[in-house]
Amino acid sequence: MFPLYEMLVAHAQKQGTSFHMPGHKAGRGLGDFSPHDLLALDTTELHDTDNLHAPTGAIKQAQELAAKAFGARHTFFLTGGSTAGILAMLAAVTKPNDRFIVDRNCHSAVINALILSRVQPIFVYPPLVNDLVGGVTVDGVAQALRENPDVVGVFLTSPTYYGLSADIKGIADIVHQAGKILLVDEAHGAHFAFHDDLPMTALSAGADMCVQSAHKTLPALTQSAYLHIGSDKIDKQQVQTMLQMFQSSSPSFLLMAYLDVARHILSTTGQQKLTYLLQRLKQLRAVLPCVDEHLLGQAGISQMDWTRLVLDLDGLPTTGVEVAEILSKKHNIQVEMADRRYVMLITTIDNTDADFDKLLHAMQALASHQPQKKACKVSQLPQATLLMSPSDAFHAKTREMSMHEAVGQIAARTVSCFPPCVPVLCPGECITAQAVAYLQQMQTSGSSILGLSAQEQLVVVAPL
Ligand SMILES: Cc1ncc(COP(=O)(O)O)c(C=O)c1O
Repeated sequence: MFPLYEMLVAHAQKQGTSFHMPGHKAGRGLGDFSPHDLLALDTTELHDTDNLHAPTGAIKQAQELAAKAFGARHTFFLTGGSTAGILAMLAAVTKPNDRFIVDRNCHSAVINALILSRVQPIFVYPPLVNDLVGGVTVDGVAQALRENPDVVGVFLTSPTYYGLSADIKGIADIVHQAGKILLVDEAHGAHFAFHDDLPMTALSAGADMCVQSAHKTLPALTQSAYLHIGSDKIDKQQVQTMLQMFQSSSPSFLLMAYLDVARHILSTTGQQKLTYLLQRLKQLRAVLPCVDEHLLGQAGISQMDWTRLVLDLDGLPTTGVEVAEILSKKHNIQVEMADRRYVMLITTIDNTDADFDKLLHAMQALASHQPQKKACKVSQLPQATLLMSPSDAFHAKTREMSMHEAVGQIAARTVSCFPPCVPVLCPGECITAQAVAYLQQMQTSGSSILGLSAQEQLVVVAPL
């Protein structure tokens, strides 16, 4: 029996149209870089291959070329995704009990970083617009800095999963004026450096350090990512040490090789391919109900990633979840994510005209579909009060409770819906009725909830 292997082979044979990660879309755009004997490249640290944790040869050279292409002082290759980079970034610039301003719309990896590094967050909530969470605002960060002058820095997520970018330049300016460090989770923006019509990169906006998941938007393998250092305020050696802690001592050469290849492809042909992709998407946006430039300037949204196709079904008698299901089951088109109102598709330079034609035909066919509007609510970011540090709550004595009973208790685990893995509950937060209602709605609509106990209960801090 080899169920996983069989499942993958069967999945590949279906040849679905991919509007999801990984960015290479089944290796299409890799051309000569996709040899039949790929496994022969899966090697280890030998005298002629180099070592990611102390590079002196080809890995060092490849990282230097990446730094040049992305505009970094130094680039580290990550084989544990942006997740590993997020853990390493925060650990490298803090010590236990330090305080950090953090965008509450962050990925759960950021909460894990706070727990592991024992750092106390001051959460800043980004505003909502049209049921979408926008970017943290310059004013929001400025206020948090004024009220918390002892923080070490600011950690923000930009762009969001939906491709909405905050004013990182404005935020970087005030963070630096206050003498603090700016870390950016740019997991969804690895392609930004290669086209002027895409949002400004975190590095060019002045971030001191950032991560980018190459596998999300570039022709790179799942789990591969970059960690870039942007300023001399960051101790490169300390970052390297943290990466040794958070990554395998036997990192995959295949993952590293395609970080190198993705950089090469984007540096040589990226601009031309992105121009074509952006034009094609502009045509699609003109005929499909999509999120458009009306969002710009609202809710901290300074720029938008036009490679993200976000269908807005507001006012239509169907939900995003339902549309995603029909696209998958009837048309073999797989999207990245859907909620009540939106369907989000990740497009990259490796999507073809045929993919877009298929999507257009499927959406036209949907016009005659009789919907059964489902009751799941839109993504919300329920505001909550942080009563303990995430790390103290995580390490406290705990007990389990039904969701209903847990209202008013302190969460001891991060609870999120997958995707987008933005915590609905963060350890240390008081559990609100609104958060519970949201989780229950998401459960009913079939979303996978991460962070519940084996009995599907909430894990809360036990009374002393
Ligand atoms: C905003 C954000 N940050 C970080 C991550 C983690 O990235 P990775 O999957 O490369 O570890 C994700 C994953 O989806 C994400 O959406």
